Amino acid sequence: MTLKEKYKDYFKIGAAVNTRTIESHKDIILREFNSITCENEMKYISVAPDGVNYDFTNADKIYAFAQENGLDMRLHTFLWHNQVPKEIFDNEREVFLKNFKAHIEKVSARYGSGVYACDVANEVIEDTSDGFFRESPWLSTMGDEFCDIAFKYAKEALPGVTLVYNDYNECHPEKSQKIYRLVKELKERDIPVDCLGMQGHWNISKPTIDEVKRAFELYAKLGVKLHVTELDISVYSDMEPSDLTAPTTEMLKAQTEVYKQIFAIFREYKEILESVTLWGVADDATWLSYFRKLNRKNWPLLFDENHQPKDAYYAVMDF
Ligand code: GLA
Repeated sequence: MTLKEKYKDYFKIGAAVNTRTIESHKDIILREFNSITCENEMKYISVAPDGVNYDFTNADKIYAFAQENGLDMRLHTFLWHNQVPKEIFDNEREVFLKNFKAHIEKVSARYGSGVYACDVANEVIEDTSDGFFRESPWLSTMGDEFCDIAFKYAKEALPGVTLVYNDYNECHPEKSQKIYRLVKELKERDIPVDCLGMQGHWNISKPTIDEVKRAFELYAKLGVKLHVTELDISVYSDMEPSDLTAPTTEMLKAQTEVYKQIFAIFREYKEILESVTLWGVADDATWLSYFRKLNRKNWPLLFDENHQPKDAYYAVMDF
């Protein structure tokens, strides 16, 4: 039994991939997962580095891999403050909007028929208690209705695709209320948002299992689908550098327990939870080992550096 078989009647099981891992981790991807997300290759700056000239080489490679192997795909992402060419904001509002709409149309025309979901807007909510929207050139160029506009453009370009609002720190008691409010208000204005994406960049002690449960309870009230879009469980609970070259037994034990408990919660929400995507395939290729120049290795996924299933894998398979 593999992950995708075990979870067949629950939700899609996905992994973020890149042009290297579709080769180096091909066996695991094809055996265990039925959905993929491009880790970077479909982001604005990846397909249009200067905002004008398009190069789809890398995204095309991953899309072809999905098509050839019958994998579903999530499209990530249109409106995000990172990995976006700065030049697009040099234009005045009307020209900017025309270009942004054309960008959505171009990417959607190329990949729309092979994707079931799209992270239309990513991380627009402010983390701290003051302020609702994060300050960004998107907000200053487009105004408060920036999300409305992005979802409307995406709806036209991607009919039938699940349109997602995606964010992190989504289980934080205060931020979750703001995320809830954003999606609720979008819906009240008839903006076509279909789904809330919970990134799931968590660690062995935060969020607590109780916070995860409360976030699911809250978001379930929205009446939209839910996705877990970027799941990984860091083996550290702090942000300190570390020279560990392998995870300790205690770290792996704690991580296994977290994976076990969160997947139990995920299963409870199978009626509205459409997919769970891990942000990577195996521990030898994880962004967390390069995060914020922290200079430490991390082992956040279900497969180890030798591509073998970890205890955490067996824990999520055991029900
Ligand atoms: C955010 C983005 C992802 C990825 C991760 C970390 O969560 O949504 O695309 O960049 O950061 O790399």
